[in-house]
Amino acid sequence: MKKIFVNLKMYLNTKEEITNYINNLKEEKEKFVVFPEAIHLEKFISNGYITGIQNISKNICGPATGEISAKAAKSAGTKYALIAHSEIRKNFNEKDEDIYQKIKLALENNLTPVLCIGENYEEYMQNKTKEIIKNQIEKALKNIKEKIIISYEPVWAIGTGKTPTNEEIEKAASYIKNLTTENVKVLYGGSVSDKNIHTLNKIKNIDGFLIGAAGANPNSLKKIIEVA
Ligand code: 13P
Repeated sequence: MKKIFVNLKMYLNTKEEITNYINNLKEEKEKFVVFPEAIHLEKFISNGYITGIQNISKNICGPATGEISAKAAKSAGTKYALIAHSEIRKNFNEKDEDIYQKIKLALENNLTPVLCIGENYEEYMQNKTKEIIKNQIEKALKNIKEKIIISYEPVWAIGTGKTPTNEEIEKAASYIKNLTTENVKVLYGGSVSDKNIHTLNKIKNIDGFLIGAAGANPNSLKKIIEVA
């Protein structure tokens, strides 16, 4: 069975949308990890959902207006921290050193980091996938050997309906596993849907999926969970 992680991004915003989602998926709540907008974490946690936070601060505490510390996320009852999602790398101009600090802080606060890596379209066309993966892993992890999850999410596959072939994902996953320790689990993310899950589920060497848009739709998510 593959693990399912759902990054809700900013798809469901209101209390009503969250309540509908929670009620709709209560039979499945133990079968996936959900990363809602931070303001809704409490609601998911109090309803027995397993949660993660979409981003944490690189700072421990103190003057960092608008940010959320790893310590606060842990204290709220969340278990995972998404780190270096390509939307955060881009929108917040996140640096390699920030990513390393965030992973360290997540681990120090007993949150399991879910590190996102992957090449953009230009790099993919230039056959640079391995080079990018290696560079991102080396800079993010340095000598960190603890249990973490890495999500291979090619930037060009996110929200586009396009995915790499199963063979390409398999190659990337074994490359990631070769570069890291056996403590590392590997997910695939990028346009996973109820339409392509049968195909993607045939990939043997990944441990699960990180799902965006399709995960915000309870019916699609139920189908994905059923297959995976
Ligand atoms: P989509 O599934 O919407 O392509 O998003 C993937 C993603 O970014 C998960 O973090």
